Order: sequence, then C-alpha cells, then structure tokens
Amino acid sequence: MTDAAKFIAIDGPAGSGKSSVSKAIARQLGFGYLDTGAAYRALAWHVLEHGADTADADAVRTAASDFPLNQGLDPDDRRVHVGEVDVTDAIRDPRVSAAVSGVARVPEVRVQVNETFRRIVSEAEYPAVVVEGRDITTVVAPDAPVRILLTAAPEVRAARRAGELAGENAAAVAEALHKRDASDSSVVDFLNAAPGVDVVDSTELDFAQTVDAVLAVIGQRRDAD
Ligand code: DC
Repeated sequence: MTDAAKFIAIDGPAGSGKSSVSKAIARQLGFGYLDTGAAYRALAWHVLEHGADTADADAVRTAASDFPLNQGLDPDDRRVHVGEVDVTDAIRDPRVSAAVSGVARVPEVRVQVNETFRRIVSEAEYPAVVVEGRDITTVVAPDAPVRILLTAAPEVRAARRAGELAGENAAAVAEALHKRDASDSSVVDFLNAAPGVDVVDSTELDFAQTVDAVLAVIGQRRDAD
C-alpha cells in the first residue's frame, strides 16, 4: 500500500529544474528528498558493472534482482551507494546517462523500483518526502495530495543544462536532451500533466520564483487535504 499522504510528488523533464527545486523545498519544509532518477542511474551503473548490455532486457532483469541500493533522504547528502560502492559521481558519467533509458524501459524493473520507492517513503523518519522523477504523479503515488508537473520550454531547459555543463556546446546539449526526452517519454508521459496534477511552468521564472510557485501549490493542496 502507498503511504500517499507522505508524498510530495514532482515530475518533469530533464532541465526543468526539478532536482534543485525539490531539494530547496525539502530543506525549507524539513522534509526528506528522494531523487528517483538517481536510483535508475545506479541500476544502469550496476548493469554496466556486471558487464551486461543495458539494451538486453533479460540481462537488466537479472542485474535488478540483486541490486543493493542504498539511498538516503537528506536533501544535503546526495550520496548513493550500491552495496559498499559509493556511485554518487559515477552515475553522472555520460556512459551511464546514455544507458539509463534502456534500463528504465523494462516494465518488471519499473515495478520493482517503484515498490522500493514506496517502501523508502513509508519508512522515512520525515513527515513527508519530496519525491522527484518522471512517473511519481501518475504511477508511484497517484493518490498523493500534492502532485506537480514542473515544466519549461525545451530551449530554456537546454540553455540551463548547457550552463550547468561548462564548455559544452549548446546545440549538442539540446540534441542530447531532446533524444533522452523522446526515449524516456515513450515509456512514461511526463510532458503532459495527468488529471488533477498541478503544472508549474518555469520558462519565465528564475529559481527563487519557481521555488515559491511550487511552495504555493504545496500550501494549497496540503491545506485542502
Ligand atoms: O532525472 P534523471 O535525468 O537523473 O533520470 C535518469 C533517467 O531515469 C531518465 O533518463 C529517465 C529515468 N527515470 C524514469 O524512467 N522514471 C523516474 N521516475 C525517474 C527517472
């Protein structure tokens, strides 16, 4: 069963600002923070570490059946471990970014990973957890009182990502972002809001304004509950 009331569910595409916004909100409200994309990335790292092909669904299922993920909820501690190995930096490697969509498209793996997210939230020693990803509002916690889709125009997202990755060519970043969104959104739709999901469009907003807009939705929805 989902402990829905503990979820602050935030979905959105790459470059929408959802990670930094979600972390800021968790800090401000004294909530936990769960980056579900990091879990998929850790699984992709784990599959690659086994020397397996991330495009081979059987190999991915086998690796996922023994996946000792250890991910905390402290918004100021983003470390992720697989078993004893600290994979925090390794999961941001382009090799993992290129492989993660393949791993995330295996349905049984998604079911397993989603159960892990629900367990982590229900056992959390926080009053609520800001959970960010692609299908949190629709699949992982469709009954959550607060469900937000954080969006921004594709060119703004690409520009933000290019700014984060110093020295990267903006056109190449836009192309990579577009490819990953197209691949990921063929598995779960995170570009359109499901019924009942509040949309925050950060295209015209700076970081502080985006945080305020998300906090306003959280305030409204939690008051209404
Ligand atoms: O948010 P991110 O870019 O770190 O996510 C990494 C990948 O994981 C992304 O390509 C899509 C996938 N993902 C997913 O399928 N479902 C989620 N809830 C979160 C991420």
